[in-house]
Amino acid sequence: MNHMTGSEARAGDIYRGLPVGFILWFTGLSGAGKSTLASAIQSRLRMTRPVEVLDGDEVRTFLSRGLGYSKPDRNENISRIGYVARLLARHRVAVIVAAISPYRESRDEVRQLAMEQGIPFVEVYVQARLETLIRRDVKGLYRRALSGEIQNFTGISDPYESPESPELVLHTDSEPVNESVARILDALRTRGLIAPD
Ligand code: ADX
Repeated sequence: MNHMTGSEARAGDIYRGLPVGFILWFTGLSGAGKSTLASAIQSRLRMTRPVEVLDGDEVRTFLSRGLGYSKPDRNENISRIGYVARLLARHRVAVIVAAISPYRESRDEVRQLAMEQGIPFVEVYVQARLETLIRRDVKGLYRRALSGEIQNFTGISDPYESPESPELVLHTDSEPVNESVARILDALRTRGLIAPD
């Protein structure tokens, strides 16, 4: 039996021919390259389909303004990002998330909720050696964390729980960006989430 109302049927019509939505979730330490990869993938996909990036730094100035870096605040941040990501993905947007998301349980919860709604969830562990991140220190935050000026800094004075079975692991301190991008696109293609080349 068809339970769709007239307006739902029309909403269905506007999606005809559009690809399915999904959540591509980048997790990893600050400075590991999550935002760089997110915007590179966005540029590659945006010509052919709707794409949105939810970036930790940006989300924290709007959706999560006022939240700090305690475990409950970080988990709240991830839960909000996950919620918006699901809303968008449900409407066939390719959603790219770039957030440290240090706690396994909160990432797994987002994955679980996405799966329950039939939304594909692709977790990418953006891995780089801490020594390299400290040496590069693009935002100058590691120096401040090491001196104790910033507390609860992920990787220095706060935990990061690496994913146990991510769909993809990228070693961004040894792999050039274009190679990582190619591997991500390949992972999406393999899962039928983007069209073959
Ligand atoms: S998350 O842990 O809640 O997922 P999110 O990705 O939104 O973090 O934000 C991380 C960004 O906040 C970092 O890239 C960095 O610029 C900034 N930041 C400020 N304080 C901290 C801190 N104590 N730990 C980690 N990142 C911090």
